[in-house]
Amino acid sequence: MKTTVSIIKADVGGWPGHALVHPELKNIANKKLTKAKRDKLLIDFHVTHCGDDLELIMTHRKGTNSKKIHGLAWDTFCEATNKARQLGLYGAGQDLLCDSFSGNIRGMGPGIAEMEFTERKAEPVITFMMDKTEPGAFNFPIYKIFADPFNTAGLIIDPSIHDGFVFEVWDIQKHTNVFLNTPEETYDLLALIGAKSRFVIKRVFPKKSSKLPADEPVAVISTEKLYHIAGEYVGKDDPVAIVRAQSGLPAVGEVLEPFSIGHLVSGWMRGSHNGPLMPVSVNDAQCTRFDGPPRVISLGFQLKDGKLTQPVDLFNDPAFDITRRNAQRVTEYMRKHGPFEPHRLPMEDMEYTTLPKVMKKLGSRFKKVE
Ligand code: 13P
Ligand code: 13P
Ligand code: MG
Ligand code: MG
Repeated sequence: MKTTVSIIKADVGGWPGHALVHPELKNIANKKLTKAKRDKLLIDFHVTHCGDDLELIMTHRKGTNSKKIHGLAWDTFCEATNKARQLGLYGAGQDLLCDSFSGNIRGMGPGIAEMEFTERKAEPVITFMMDKTEPGAFNFPIYKIFADPFNTAGLIIDPSIHDGFVFEVWDIQKHTNVFLNTPEETYDLLALIGAKSRFVIKRVFPKKSSKLPADEPVAVISTEKLYHIAGEYVGKDDPVAIVRAQSGLPAVGEVLEPFSIGHLVSGWMRGSHNGPLMPVSVNDAQCTRFDGPPRVISLGFQLKDGKLTQPVDLFNDPAFDITRRNAQRVTEYMRKHGPFEPHRLPMEDMEYTTLPKVMKKLGSRFKKVE
């Protein structure tokens, strides 16, 4: 019997501003999901936060896009929003774009990463949750995990992954997708996913030559673009991802390794700045300096018959101190640029801000230069 792992997340109110999730919101989520586990809708769950995003990690047998599971997440976010309103938290209900649930939470504001698969004898599941950035922030690390032999030694030395993987890439503006094989189509893949605000990796699959079923994903990333859903800026769509590891897949250490770079991502203050992605422990997952810098947390589980072990807080490791120090240095350097690109995002990503208004206001004062 297959197991489904779903992460559904939303910002339903920040404390203060966009810094952190208030513990009372996590209490509500824990109560709701405990009841759902008692009622056998969920097999297991873990509630956490990254910055101001409330994260529901759930396991169940209902498959992806289940009305019941999405409805449970929606109800949880609505209850938490009510509490956020009572407490006067900032931007209460920020990511709930619709008034009522229509059967599938996709397109309603929250972010979703979920996958259904046949459990192996021992199934390491690595979850990632980011704040103050966008889904394209996962392009770089997911590429490195599954396609870069300088990151993943197994691509060279483990016969079970030597053939490579298949990447499903979405064009989030045109709402189309394409499947690309690595290593054969590496350069085509990179040509797309380097443009991370438009092309995002949605899933990774094993190849047909793998021992793992080729139609069961081994990684999945949330790709909701709130901008495109709502037609206006309503906060960056802070993304989440699930990656399976070991035995025919990259090892846990290979899955974590790309995060040692602190690569540049878009988001940060007012969703309008480039900055380094800093890997942190859950305790440090609060966005303070200039509402950031953008952060990623990772919780690792072993999965057995749908049950999750206690999570391991994977970036709570001094081995990532050097990354954090570098990210702080880059933060210091980028911040000195103030409103100048490339710290501030380029024009096309600034449409929701005052820039179009400034252009309009100055309209007739622009004269033709001979
Ligand atoms: P205010 O609307 O409170 O100025 O906040 C702006 C902001 O935080 C953008 O999300
Ligand atoms: P969030 O997308 O995390 O709510 O942050 C919005 C923001 O404007 C931070 O400055
Ligand atoms: Mg927020
Ligand atoms: Mg957020």
